[in-house]
Amino acid sequence: MKTAKILIVDDELELERLFKLRFRKNIRANEFELVFASNGQDALEKLQSDSLIDMVVTDINMPDMDGLTLLSKLKEINQNIKAVVVSAYGDLRNIRTAMNRGAFDFLTKPIDFDDLAITIKKTLEFVKQKKKTLNQLQEMQTQMIQQEKMSAIGQLVASIVHEINNPVGFIASNIDFASEYIQDMLKLLNLYQQQFPNPGVEIQSTLQEIELDYLVSALPEVISSMKTGTERIIDLSKSLRNFSRGNITNPVAFNLHEGLDSTLLIVKHRLKARKHSYRIEIIKKYGSLPFVDCYPGQLNQVFLNIIVNAIDAFDDIAQEYAWEKTKAITIQTQACADNDWVTIRIKDNGPGMSTEVKEQVFDYLFTTKPLGKGTGLGLAISRQIVEEKHGGKLTCISTLGQGTEFIIELPRQQYYPSNKLKCDHVAAICGR
Ligand SMILES: Nc1ncnc2c1ncn2[C@@H]1O[C@H](COP(=O)(O)OP(=O)(O)O)[C@@H](O)[C@H]1O
Ligand SMILES: [Mg+2]
Repeated sequence: MKTAKILIVDDELELERLFKLRFRKNIRANEFELVFASNGQDALEKLQSDSLIDMVVTDINMPDMDGLTLLSKLKEINQNIKAVVVSAYGDLRNIRTAMNRGAFDFLTKPIDFDDLAITIKKTLEFVKQKKKTLNQLQEMQTQMIQQEKMSAIGQLVASIVHEINNPVGFIASNIDFASEYIQDMLKLLNLYQQQFPNPGVEIQSTLQEIELDYLVSALPEVISSMKTGTERIIDLSKSLRNFSRGNITNPVAFNLHEGLDSTLLIVKHRLKARKHSYRIEIIKKYGSLPFVDCYPGQLNQVFLNIIVNAIDAFDDIAQEYAWEKTKAITIQTQACADNDWVTIRIKDNGPGMSTEVKEQVFDYLFTTKPLGKGTGLGLAISRQIVEEKHGGKLTCISTLGQGTEFIIELPRQQYYPSNKLKCDHVAAICGR
């Protein structure tokens, strides 16, 4: 943990030696570090140049700038710093002014060092707690924005899918009719040709002009290509609907393979050969999985985050050197512990991570990507979805130069009283 920093402000220079002597054990134990200033002005400059100061202990009467003026300026520099004032015994007026200007506590002269030690401990504890709460609030806010965004995207996708489905439905059903009608007309044409083998000149020349033979032979292909196209749109729209099932408030039984497949369809364009002329192969090693109680839209988001990270990682190294090995993302699923738990492993043979990066991948706002590309939210949110929302576990194994594997473990049902505890037990059974 970071060592706390305390600024002592006093014009009595002898005090510095005394402080250092009295708190030498705490300083040696890295509990805190002391910085000194000889008056308010000096203190202000030190505070401006050093943002790591957590606490100020200040005298009141000093040349250049007194402690009370320093107090009133403190808030402008940093809201989180807490100040303790040291005043002459019984000087209630100054103490009241100090408290009104936001001092956290006060001490009287001559300084009782034991009392000061307690006050320092109490103040630092307060500052630490405040910082922690602020961080939590910030995390929560980012999370909420992200969730809000996902739900907005989900709704948008759902409405587009809905709008696309109707016209695609017309096309799909009409292609079958069209194909049938065309066959009938061809049959009739054939009959005409048999019964009237010598039509007039006009018909003969039109026949040549339109290349009837070619047209008849190509028609089935034309129709089947139209059919394939429509089927693809239908698949995509199903996947999109599946993928964006974000607004479900209760867990539903879900086929995770369906989720993985629809996620893959969504990132398909990024797997194809493009700027660095390589393509990424997807190797599916799906086992037999039971339906899993979950929030499908959220889990799909987890799959997406992990797969997109793997693709990004391949992109990173694509320019650096020619890759001999095939770039592949392997997705393996498996049920274990009597079908009560499922494991999804998403593994890439990309650049892997250094130990330092690996330790931070799940941290909020941690990213190694350039501004505008990475947000550092993907894995933090994924871990929250898997662990807090589903009582599962999300872990990562990575070796620099070899690749990275993310392991998602999920309980089949959501009613276990302590999925979290069970998780470690199951991990052992599943051979991890
Ligand atoms: N498959 C992977 N291979 C290498 N590094 C990865 C992989 N997945 C994640 N990382 C690292 O973890 C970091 C955090 O990922 P993430 O939380 O998704 O945020 P972002 O993608 O916005 O950077 C990435 O910036 C990257 O450094
Ligand atoms: Mg990411």
